[in-house]
Amino acid sequence: MAQFTRVSGSVGLITLQNPPVNALSAAVRQGIIDTVQRSLSDPKVKSVVICGQNGIFCGGADIKEFGSDMRGPPLVPMIHTIEAAHKPVVAAIEGIALGGGLELALGCHYRIAHSKARLGLPEVTLGLLPAAGGSQRLPRLIGVPAALNLITTGRHVTAAEALQLGIVDVVTDHNTVDAAVKFALSAAGETGQPLDARRISTHPCPRPSDLDALFEEVMHKVRQSARGAIAPVACVQAVRAAATLPYTQGMEREKELMATLFTSGQARALQYCFFSQRAVGRWSMPSGACWDTSKPRPVHKAAVIGLGTMGRGITVALAQTGLSVVAVETQEKQLVEAKQAVSGMLQRGAKRHGVAPALDKISYSQDIQAVADVDLVIEAVFEDMALKKKIFQQLSAVCKPGTFLCSNTSGLDVDHLASQTRNPELVVGMHFFAPAHVMKLLEVVYGPRSSPQAVATAMQLGKKMGKVSVAVGNCRGFVGNRMLKPYMEQALFLLEEGATPELVDRALEEFGFAMGVFRMSDLSGLDVGWRVRKADGLVEPGTASGQSARIRQGRRYSPLGDLLCEQGRFGQKTGRGWYQYDKPGSRVARADPWLHGFLEEYRARHGLVARQIHHQEVLERCLYALINEGFRILEDGIAAGPEDIDTIYVFGYSWPRHRGGPMFYAAMVGLPKVLERLEHYHQAHPDVPYLQPCGLLRRLVASGSPPVQRWREVIKKLHSHL
Ligand code: NAI
Repeated sequence: MAQFTRVSGSVGLITLQNPPVNALSAAVRQGIIDTVQRSLSDPKVKSVVICGQNGIFCGGADIKEFGSDMRGPPLVPMIHTIEAAHKPVVAAIEGIALGGGLELALGCHYRIAHSKARLGLPEVTLGLLPAAGGSQRLPRLIGVPAALNLITTGRHVTAAEALQLGIVDVVTDHNTVDAAVKFALSAAGETGQPLDARRISTHPCPRPSDLDALFEEVMHKVRQSARGAIAPVACVQAVRAAATLPYTQGMEREKELMATLFTSGQARALQYCFFSQRAVGRWSMPSGACWDTSKPRPVHKAAVIGLGTMGRGITVALAQTGLSVVAVETQEKQLVEAKQAVSGMLQRGAKRHGVAPALDKISYSQDIQAVADVDLVIEAVFEDMALKKKIFQQLSAVCKPGTFLCSNTSGLDVDHLASQTRNPELVVGMHFFAPAHVMKLLEVVYGPRSSPQAVATAMQLGKKMGKVSVAVGNCRGFVGNRMLKPYMEQALFLLEEGATPELVDRALEEFGFAMGVFRMSDLSGLDVGWRVRKADGLVEPGTASGQSARIRQGRRYSPLGDLLCEQGRFGQKTGRGWYQYDKPGSRVARADPWLHGFLEEYRARHGLVARQIHHQEVLERCLYALINEGFRILEDGIAAGPEDIDTIYVFGYSWPRHRGGPMFYAAMVGLPKVLERLEHYHQAHPDVPYLQPCGLLRRLVASGSPPVQRWREVIKKLHSHL
């Protein structure tokens, strides 16, 4: 709702009240209309200030209302009434003015912001556009290029940038409402022309001379980075309408475009992502322990063991969070390089954020004894169980009682590591993604003996580090990497059957992945998986040409990756992999005729006849195999719900956000269709167990394919029957 009070005699103060962010729910909109009308009809009120309670102006539309029928007064006429008011209306912006909140402020005649406020139109991130006049008023106020940048990216701006752009009139370090009231008192006499000039919708939109070229260029860029998302494209079209049409026609266009977006599956997917990201914070363990009942312990000092690719990034992320860090690396050369690399990353990060680099937070050592007094350790040495076991034994002996011991392993058994220590309840996995100071995802892996407090502490530390943390159970590869295995396996089989890396990658990139599976594997290094397969006894040198080369443990196996590694083709780092690169380390992948020849020879050797493979088959086989494993993960209780899996895929594996995540996508495609296609492919490839439809998928289909939000009920029932 909105409260009306009269302050300083003649200023009507309207306060939005809807915790936590004063979202524009139906009740708030009604409250604004009532209080604005009251202010305008009260002769004692000469000017009006709109603010929000608890130091927050307004976080925008109430996203909870999106799914339901919109009730209450619509925003557009409400904002028009404010703009058309014959008394000056001032927005006092504290905290945030986002989305509909900023659109409301743009309808006011003046905007005063606190120096710490943030403003923006983030609708695009929810698959929408600012459709309460935002796409029409902002370009009129700050010009087309700046408005395009804000609206198509949804980025937030600081008060200082908002002032520079001309979004706000004044920025204050003092009490914003007091400043706005003072301002309103001085503007009270304004009627007629001075006030007319403040109504943004009446301004002509500044038209750059090269308008067509500008829009063409922006549209090209937006389409490239949107990876198939339609909202950014609609945002450009709406701003174009502002630049080329009179205001009322522009508003019509804004409405039309919004209607298309609103009913699109993409908006639903993006809103699902928004809620999923929040839902993963409310984690639970099969024991029933959960976020609500488990208290984290504070972590002030942490240690990182092993300063390779991951350890360096983790050290930077911890120091940037304000923790003291002891960084341990046994190899002298690595230590020297790591110090340089960490300092460089900290300095660059500090420069970007205009703060001092946290260099003094880190102490380096070659001796594991240096970690004796830390609260939490993150081990990031080579992916080698024997080595990790030894380190956990040492840590257990060296660290003070109660120190949490975490491993950044990508998939080894966390419980096995815990069993090496005196207090297995203190052990969890903290699986970061490369580069660890940039990537948002953190899988927090609990073993059967991990205490809820250890999970709560790792989850809270992840949150402090700005990560999206997801609690998952302990199994080979956890959630993300476990699902990746059948996906990569299918991609290799497709090569055997006639595809090329380019064809497979193109299909996946058109679907919306930032990188196809082969480009991705060239980037992360083919040798990593090769080493794991060797340790698992899957790589059998010399048998590549024999009968057993394509079968392991009774199931189909593709040795293609192993064969490339045997030739020293590790990907970007060696300048050759599934593609060729101009030089080692170069990022530009080019199709490699050698590889095509190699594939032909391989097929001939194994009596495989290449056939034409269509994009649809690539998508179905790679994605449905991955999704099928997602169902198994849910069935096994490794992830608590589909939201956890989807959040992991969106934040850690570049799954296109506008497709919600693999499990949401399966629901969008239709579970019966996914089941039918898996059955079809499993029949064609009976020696590929990953293609055999999972029991949970069958069960969901049998129970009428409920929406993804209701899968947890089916899973719960399944577990209670076991
Ligand atoms: P890396 O090979 O770059 O670095 C490992 C470092 O550990 C080396 O500097 C090595 O000298 C050091 N080390 C070895 N034994 C040590 C000991 N006893 N004490 C202290 N330091 C020691 O490895 P990377 O890529 O950083 O991987 C580390 C861990 O993170 C592995 O478990 C890996 O599976 C996992 N991981 C890797 C990801 C990646 O993309 N590279 C992503 C997520 C997890």
